[in-house]
Amino acid sequence: MTQILKIGHRGARGYVAENTLPSFQKAIDLGADGIELDVHVCASGALVVFHDFTLGRVTNGKGKISNFTLKELKKLKVLKNFQIPTLVEVLDLVDKKCFVNVELKGKGTAEEACDIIETYVLKKGWSYSDFIISSFKEDLLKKAFQHNKNIPLAVLTETSLKKALTFAETINAKAINPDFNLLSEDAVNQIHKKGFKINVWTVNEPSDIERMKTFGVDGIITDFPDRI
Ligand code: G3P
Ligand code: CA
Repeated sequence: MTQILKIGHRGARGYVAENTLPSFQKAIDLGADGIELDVHVCASGALVVFHDFTLGRVTNGKGKISNFTLKELKKLKVLKNFQIPTLVEVLDLVDKKCFVNVELKGKGTAEEACDIIETYVLKKGWSYSDFIISSFKEDLLKKAFQHNKNIPLAVLTETSLKKALTFAETINAKAINPDFNLLSEDAVNQIHKKGFKINVWTVNEPSDIERMKTFGVDGIITDFPDRI
């Protein structure tokens, strides 16, 4: 039986401020097989790791992240103590210790993420299998597929497995990444029969983790990687 993958959601969000370098380090220290993170393109063109489209919830700034330059974003504090990292900074920290699931959030992220991943594969000894690009947005996944067909893709869904599966076939995706509440054991079997892997999110409660294991999912995205 293959081992279920433990994937740290925004790092180890249950322990350290989400999408920050210490949070990714914590996930690695807890033995995560992979980390999941979210990206946006900022006003000066860098790909920054941040969940929301606006700064207010987790920083001392206000407004849309896409309106700020990297220099301006670096001056902000994430949950009082931390900085917003770039994807490049995260990859240098990870240094191939685990795989990296890049979730495309904002406009322009597909091309930027593909270019960075290609650089790390061609010049820094990473493999395409060290990456997954995922998104809820079909247009961003299509762009990633057109840009580089070697990067594994995953279709995120919180509403319809059927729709995700139909779209996944058109972009040759490797995985469906559903909200765990959408799944049944039957659905897992059907998705597997179609040849897709399944990584569920965001599964934090031990009873839910056990249920997902029983269903036979391939990976669990969690705020607490040590609970898997
Ligand atoms: O990638 C899984 C999960 O992170 C998707 O939802 O809102 O946490 O980015 P969200
Ligand atoms: Ca995410």
